[in-house]
Amino acid sequence: MKLCMIGTGYVGLVSGTCFSDLGNDVICVDRDENKINNLKKGIIPIYEPGLEELVVKNYNNKRLKFSTNLEESIKKSDIVFICVGTPTNKKNDSADLSQIFSVAKEISKSINKFKIIITKSTVPVTTGDEIEKILSKKVKKNYFSVVSNPEFLREGEAIRDFVYPDRIVIGANDKKSATILRNLYAPLISKGAKFLSVKRRAAELIKYAANAFLATKITFINEIANLCEKTDIDVEDVSIGIGLDKRIGGRFLRAGPAYGGSCFPKDTKAIVSTGNQFKTDLSVIKSVVKSNSSRSKILLKKITEILGNKIKNKKICFLGVTFKANTDDMRDSSSLEMIPFLSKKGAKIKYYDPTGVKKEFSKTKNVNYSNSINEAIRNVDLVILHTEWNDFKSINFQKLALSKKMKIYDMRNIFSKEKIVSQGFTYYGIGR
Ligand SMILES: NC(=O)c1ccc[n+]([C@@H]2O[C@H](COP(=O)([O-])OP(=O)(O)OC[C@H]3O[C@@H](n4cnc5c(N)ncnc54)[C@H](O)[C@@H]3O)[C@@H](O)[C@H]2O)c1
Repeated sequence: MKLCMIGTGYVGLVSGTCFSDLGNDVICVDRDENKINNLKKGIIPIYEPGLEELVVKNYNNKRLKFSTNLEESIKKSDIVFICVGTPTNKKNDSADLSQIFSVAKEISKSINKFKIIITKSTVPVTTGDEIEKILSKKVKKNYFSVVSNPEFLREGEAIRDFVYPDRIVIGANDKKSATILRNLYAPLISKGAKFLSVKRRAAELIKYAANAFLATKITFINEIANLCEKTDIDVEDVSIGIGLDKRIGGRFLRAGPAYGGSCFPKDTKAIVSTGNQFKTDLSVIKSVVKSNSSRSKILLKKITEILGNKIKNKKICFLGVTFKANTDDMRDSSSLEMIPFLSKKGAKIKYYDPTGVKKEFSKTKNVNYSNSINEAIRNVDLVILHTEWNDFKSINFQKLALSKKMKIYDMRNIFSKEKIVSQGFTYYGIGR
């Protein structure tokens, strides 16, 4: 099939590349000329394991193209996926749909034959109805169908998640589009992916409800971890103990910093806003948002205690600053709250991240990037393990002959407390 992905970010680039690898002709469009020019040279704008090889392979065999020309790319395609951002509207915490509606207007000018217009971006319930209204102003109704196909891929595992998804959700109000999309996804369905065909509004809500539920699990275990710290219990034991119950399941029960990234923070707020719009009190999700927003403050209080209530001139190292491992995404990472706070209090901060230096800290006082783990942890008072990269799991603090006065705050519980204590260092974890 001929596909057009509008927005060549984490979702558009990964799904466009994977669709081309399945044998479709795909044009990935973006308004960012620099991004498109780089992609044509094989330079990938994001860190995503395995993506570069797949982009280069499919670009070379001409099934994958890159363009900044929206009109031409839409005209050449049968199916148009909208993959642009839906960030938080700072005024009222709803989803800012300006990019979606601006793209819909562009699409309405370029429909020359029947096309399926799909929202792969995460959009609130009734957005499909709004897109339909925008298109109807310029195009006859039998020339298009608006469908919701939410994306569930996780950064860092994106290709595997695309190829082996738990489920594919199609929200179409007409049978023809649902059948075409089932055929598009047939290679993944034959490998075991469940296919769920529902009404468009249901598909839109499934995505938000899924993210809100996962965010709830994380927040739940983070609060249980707070209780564990007061009662001398290891939260890891509690996670295993409750996760073995099949009704609960063990995943997303790892206590740690506030959830961050490009999805959970904005999507939990947006679904609360949708609830308000439809006069429905989503009190559970409201509590989750509130609890998560106080998470960094709780961890900062603990850091202050660890440092004996004196932060000024203390040397602190952050290992990892992205919101999770295997991604370079800094959006809503808890490090963005913690590092500036500590800097303001006079700490001297070094950080190392496997995805390199971050522009977000370029203007933060006394914050410097280190080129290696060893350099980062040398001569510091406190090491904060912020992101759970595999690179950090095997650090041998003893072998690096560091001062035994150095303290280690393991915010992901990846180190063995016993081992670190037996090496003479002071260890703090989350909920243990
Ligand atoms: N990142 C994830 O892990 C993930 C997972 C599932 C769903 N989503 C959802 O997918 C959507 C996209 O997320 P993302 O992380 O890929 O965003 P992103 O910011 O990485 O990419 C969006 C891209 O759209 C481009 N764009 C914006 N307006 C455009 C226009 N008018 N024409 C052409 N290009 C335009 C931007 O330049 C950018 O490159 C969001 O709704 C997000 O919630 C993201």
